[in-house]
Amino acid sequence: MKLLHIDSSIAGQQSVSRQLTAAIVRRLREANPDAVVIYHDLAAEPVEHLAVAPAAGSVTLEEFLAADVVVIGAPMYNLGVPSQLKAWMDRLVVAGRTFYYTETGAQGGLCGGKRIIVASTRGGFYTAPSPIAAMDHQESHLQSYFAFLGISDVEFIRAEGTAMGDELRHRALEAALAAASALEAE
Ligand SMILES: Cc1cc2nc3c(=O)[nH]c(=O)nc-3n(C[C@H](O)[C@H](O)[C@H](O)COP(=O)(O)O)c2cc1C
Repeated sequence: MKLLHIDSSIAGQQSVSRQLTAAIVRRLREANPDAVVIYHDLAAEPVEHLAVAPAAGSVTLEEFLAADVVVIGAPMYNLGVPSQLKAWMDRLVVAGRTFYYTETGAQGGLCGGKRIIVASTRGGFYTAPSPIAAMDHQESHLQSYFAFLGISDVEFIRAEGTAMGDELRHRALEAALAAASALEAE
């Protein structure tokens, strides 16, 4: 198994999403001791923002294409994903590699075989029936984005309410860690 592990939180050791991606990767490695893991901390080593259309042969793209499983730490920043993560995502959308156009203009994704697991963290509560569910442009973006690449069943391990006091943060983290350790890992 080839596993690509991506973190994007700017919060360092305090980050909930970093703790969650670490727990998810630990779980996958326990079940797959031969797994080869590539790790990127996009806050420490940012992927450059696009200046021209993404290159077909970029290392970022090739690593993604080679991965069987991609574990992504995705905090909500200003209702969306961190710009560090968006810069990484922008490198992967390459016609003929990750998606294609048909003659009729329709599009299809080419990455159908991959498993995507997202550690989603947010300070407030956005899961329906939250009255602000429609303001979630983080999980909904990731869902649409990966569906565009052919992966329609993105798995979310979620901790919400992390900015609403120590007790809620602790409870959210514990529940999400439990979900991570119960993940299907074979
Ligand atoms: C720059 C910034 C913007 C944020 N914007 C939002 C937001 O729009 N909505 C929200 O619920 N929480 C927001 N938060 C709170 C984070 O989503 C929350 O603290 C989360 O736990 C961050 O993930 P992390 O713990 O992995 O760093 C923001 C935090 C930061 C640092």
